[in-house]
Amino acid sequence: MRLKLIVYLVISLLVSSCMDNKDEKSTRSKSNMDIDKKVDSLLALMTLEEKVGQLNMYSDFWESTGPANTKSAQEKFDHLKRGWVGAMLNVHGAKNTKRIQKIAVEETRLGIPLLFGYDVIHGFKTISPIPLAEAASWDLDAIQTSARIAGIEASAAGLHWTFAPMVDVSRDPRWGRVMEGAGEDAYLGSKIAAARVRGFQGDDIGAKNTIAACAKHFAAYGFVEAGKEYNTVDIGTSTLYNVVLPPFKTAANVGVKTFMNSFNDLNGIPVTAHKELQRKLLKGEWDFKGLVVSDWASIKELISWGHATDEKEAAILALSAGNDMDMEGYVYINELTDIIKSGELSEEVLNEAVSRILRLKFELGLFDDPYRYCNEELESKTLGKQEHQQAVLDMAKKSIVLLKNDNQKLPLKRAGQTIAVIGPLAVDKDSPLGNWRAAAEPNSAVSVLEGLKSYGDNTILYHKGVDLVNDSPSFAKEANINMTNRQGIKDAANLASKADIVIMVLGEHGFQSGEARSKTNLKLPGLQQELLEAVYKVNPNIVLVLQSGRPLIIDWAAKHIPSIVMAWQLGSQSGNALAEVLYGDYVPSGKLPMTFPRDVGQIPIYYNHKNTGRPRNVENNVFWSHYLDAKNSPLFPFGHGLSYTVFNYDKLKTNKQKYSIGEEIKVSVQISNIGEYDGKEVVQLYIRDLVGSVTRPIKELKGFELVDLKKGETKELSFVLTTNDLGFYTNKGAFVIEQGEFEIYIGGSSTTTLKTKIALK
Ligand code: BGC
Repeated sequence: MRLKLIVYLVISLLVSSCMDNKDEKSTRSKSNMDIDKKVDSLLALMTLEEKVGQLNMYSDFWESTGPANTKSAQEKFDHLKRGWVGAMLNVHGAKNTKRIQKIAVEETRLGIPLLFGYDVIHGFKTISPIPLAEAASWDLDAIQTSARIAGIEASAAGLHWTFAPMVDVSRDPRWGRVMEGAGEDAYLGSKIAAARVRGFQGDDIGAKNTIAACAKHFAAYGFVEAGKEYNTVDIGTSTLYNVVLPPFKTAANVGVKTFMNSFNDLNGIPVTAHKELQRKLLKGEWDFKGLVVSDWASIKELISWGHATDEKEAAILALSAGNDMDMEGYVYINELTDIIKSGELSEEVLNEAVSRILRLKFELGLFDDPYRYCNEELESKTLGKQEHQQAVLDMAKKSIVLLKNDNQKLPLKRAGQTIAVIGPLAVDKDSPLGNWRAAAEPNSAVSVLEGLKSYGDNTILYHKGVDLVNDSPSFAKEANINMTNRQGIKDAANLASKADIVIMVLGEHGFQSGEARSKTNLKLPGLQQELLEAVYKVNPNIVLVLQSGRPLIIDWAAKHIPSIVMAWQLGSQSGNALAEVLYGDYVPSGKLPMTFPRDVGQIPIYYNHKNTGRPRNVENNVFWSHYLDAKNSPLFPFGHGLSYTVFNYDKLKTNKQKYSIGEEIKVSVQISNIGEYDGKEVVQLYIRDLVGSVTRPIKELKGFELVDLKKGETKELSFVLTTNDLGFYTNKGAFVIEQGEFEIYIGGSSTTTLKTKIALK
């Protein structure tokens, strides 16, 4: 009893020094300077078991009346009461988090508050487009706002921490998790990573409406072999440093509070146990001060990888490598106390990990008031707010990419038309929410049909044609549907034959991409291709609205269907956003953040590939770098996206021809809107380093800007490159800037040919 009293006195002294800082913003950063001291003092009070407990994160085990009646739930509850749990995931809602927080604060010896983390990936209650879709906007302000809103809603629902942004660059749409990232490019990915971190964390992590972000999955998870989930990764240092790491480094530079490692191995070392990556690079060279959390049970998986013999070795490897927190793996909690006691790991290593966790708790203000994020009234006023709906609508419009628009079928005429809307996704109110939809109400998105019905003055007919196949995980189900459901195709075609224009809404079910959704077949699932072809036969006047969480193989559609709109999964306001774009109230401006292959056999396919020694068919023979049965080019390249208007680029120039290292390179270009609509263009700048000590890509994105242009308007745009933008990482991970010639390209996609040349002496 006396001990408890002393402990509480010390804690309250620590806390009161935080509580002086009532003014949310300026004084809190001052208090940050003292945080290390507070952490050290608290650490000095903790037992070994309590320290290990801080490293332990459990997933929800709570039913409405208390812990679930299973052995593991009872055990977790027991650990919680002993102060052996540092964080929880998958618990949300002000009431729920408060109830559990109360146990940590009031019933444990030291009363250290818990962290509550959750996958708030693209919105909490109000759902924004999936991250890959948002990336297609190239609009960093809108993306930051989207993350801000997610942060506001999540913090109002008792959360302190999101496991986002996912910043894994990936060139492989077979990998289902491409929906969670920003696509294939390191430069665009870095800009978006920064925007998302800033959005979640705001200017002040201690404010009540901000949450800690988490750069994941560190690292190279997007390069899993053959796009197969949880697979091995074997890539060289050049790819690691030039392609994989930049978004992580940017996230660290802009102050992301946490990192999550990944399930894959990297060149033979499972990254959860990768010392070079976590301890040396992240915590060492990059001087990252935040906490590193494992992925779900990834410490335990070191055993399945054949990298650790048992849990004890797994714990030693992971903690030594710099993995601070164990997410739902039970390894640290079961093993670390004995490991430290026996001297197999020093207590300093443990203290370092615990300090990082405690620091975040101090920064979030949890020692001031552990319930500061648990305000039910605020929660009910905040979630799903009208202003949030407006913001995700804005984000959704900007995320749509017009892939093709032959004969200007779009925008739709406002009145006097009969429009046949066909396809199972047209009425689907759930799929647009995508995977990782946090606390969204199921079926709460505005469907395409609802959106279209509330716009324009046309006659709208509807037929679903076929069922939407959700083939994860049952293939049998798909086979069954294939066998039985062809009458709908006939009926839909019949309906289409009576329409002036047909809008076909086809693609993936909302859960066909995401974690554990790797696929080898990226064609339209189920009978949708048959439906498309049958309708085309009777009425080729088709606008295809494609919904999916990844690039799909739509070679037939690209050849035959006049207009194709990439709608991804656009979130709560999906149907409204699409209606505005289809009717031209918003002129599409999105550009692909990921290449669309012609065939799955081209994967991995990406714009910034190497030239090879035999790039062209110069001698008219077979011995050049190509496929016998497919073109080299993609179906739609990175950076591609049309508008209803037309942009023309001209007068690309630089302020000089020759530069020395350290000089600024000023690039300008003239862009004119020569079409019939006001519009917005994403102007993209690429470079090519013509000769390198390590072979260089044929193009590399190094800048972009969004420009609004009225019909008939011309603007001059300037970009400033530094000579750092011309450098790269060698195979030893060293950054170099090499002399020589460089081409600079500007245009509306990665295939632009408008270029000029400079030299670096
Ligand atoms: C995923 C992470 C996620 C975690 C917690 C894992 O399976 O890989 O991205 O944050 O689960 O839900």
